Amino acid sequence: MLLGGNETTRKIDSFAINELKIPSIVLMENAAISFVKHIDENENNFLIICGKGNNGGDGYAIARQLFSKNKNVKIFCISNENMSHDCFVNYEICKNMGIEIFYKIEELDKLLLECDVVIEGIFGTGLNSEIKGEYCEIIEKINFLNKNKITYSIDIPSGINGDTGEIMGISVKADITISFVTYKKGFLKSDIKNYLGKVVIENIGLNENKISHIVNDYYLTPEMIKKFYIERNDNSHKGDFGKVLIFAGSSGFYGAGNIVAKSCVRSGAGLTTVITDKNNFSLNVFVPEAMSFPVNFENIEENFEKLENEILNSDVIAIGPGIGKSYKALKIFEKLISFEKNYKGNNIKLVLDADALNLLSENRELFDKIKNRSVLTPHLVEFSRLTGVSPEEINKNKFEIAKEFSQRYGITLLLKGKNTIITNGEKIFVNSTGNSHMANGGMGDCLTGIICSLVGQKYNLLESAVIGAYLHGKIADELLKKQYVINASHIIENISKYILKIFL
Ligand code: APR
Repeated sequence: MLLGGNETTRKIDSFAINELKIPSIVLMENAAISFVKHIDENENNFLIICGKGNNGGDGYAIARQLFSKNKNVKIFCISNENMSHDCFVNYEICKNMGIEIFYKIEELDKLLLECDVVIEGIFGTGLNSEIKGEYCEIIEKINFLNKNKITYSIDIPSGINGDTGEIMGISVKADITISFVTYKKGFLKSDIKNYLGKVVIENIGLNENKISHIVNDYYLTPEMIKKFYIERNDNSHKGDFGKVLIFAGSSGFYGAGNIVAKSCVRSGAGLTTVITDKNNFSLNVFVPEAMSFPVNFENIEENFEKLENEILNSDVIAIGPGIGKSYKALKIFEKLISFEKNYKGNNIKLVLDADALNLLSENRELFDKIKNRSVLTPHLVEFSRLTGVSPEEINKNKFEIAKEFSQRYGITLLLKGKNTIITNGEKIFVNSTGNSHMANGGMGDCLTGIICSLVGQKYNLLESAVIGAYLHGKIADELLKKQYVINASHIIENISKYILKIFL
């Protein structure tokens, strides 16, 4: 689904009105019709609270729609002065239709107590400053007097900033927010869940493809993930699902390599080989399906001839988790990225995580070698090292910084965190899955394994990162229904089952 802020909403409205020539009042009507679809047929007593902008206009149009279904509808009009044009038109129709309209704040308590459902359209994307005075009082009353009833917010709970999610002094606490066209960027803010309630995104009669030139940011939905699915051909063999080479895990960190390898195997890669210390015997026990390429870290160069052959045989190489930042790790990293094409003449794709990113930050000339064939999966601190921008600054302007970085280095970026961002410099996808119970060691290694496996199975870099992030978080969300701690091993054991669920 499209993701946008207040400005995006204005641009979409303006495109629909000026280019598509849809009268704004028609858009408002479409919004109202879409909104009403979500209201329980059994509800009868409605109070609609309307501001004077277009959000209030939506409220008046919704009131008419409900009234025409013979519902008991009352309207509280906050102000009938300086109304927006479409708000005024709908207000006048409501008056003409004989819907009861109340104006005095003294009447609001009684109205709130008598109704079963409140629908509020006080402010939407037009909220431009702290809420004060009478508006504040009205919102306090809605939150206080409506505890055991249902509150619907139109587009955005009044008081939430659509761009930042900031509470502008006070906000309505909605049970259901029905928002139009875009999932609002502000909804991504983690501590406003109690204000948003359940979020539904509705159409106002526009085709998503026709407005993608205005907004190229997406909030991931199950439907979007299903579309990426590549069906397996009956005649295929293991060579068709990727030869994946993994350089992960060094002495003391064998677990990292084992986790990457196991999640890669469980995600469906054709052949998985792990470059690991010659003394690491745990790999074969932990992941018998993976092959090992033992190296002598004491004398790295002596392995390089054999390693070259391994590189040229591979379709994708995952590098980073647990390799450390030693000189030897750097030498292997440099070797692994030194060939652009494999024996088949195809680009060797790269998935770079953890220490590979730290090595890259300190050896920036290596960026040239990874161009147009890599996914980088930093968390905030790693991304800060890569960009030289502080975590605080990144957080203020995540989308732009991520996009710009991706464009500048010609890479696909997956910036981990709550609402992981994935971008190829053109499109941005924001992940909708995952939770704080997966914040523990090994989780990122598991994601790396899933992504390199998907790349091997011929999903492109952007798709692999998007599907990987979604799947990883989705498994954790499902497990959270039954358990408190979610470790990489729990995810790994569920990958295969959930690949099936997210795709089919
Ligand atoms: N205090 C008081 N009034 C305010 C404040 C504030 N802090 N902020 C904005 N306003 C006033 C504006 O002056 C304007 O009259 O609220 C009105 C704008 O509110 P909105 O209805 O949110 O803005 P508008 O652009 O008219 O409509 C956007 O329309 O497409 C629908 O519901 C959709 O959210 C969307 C809305």
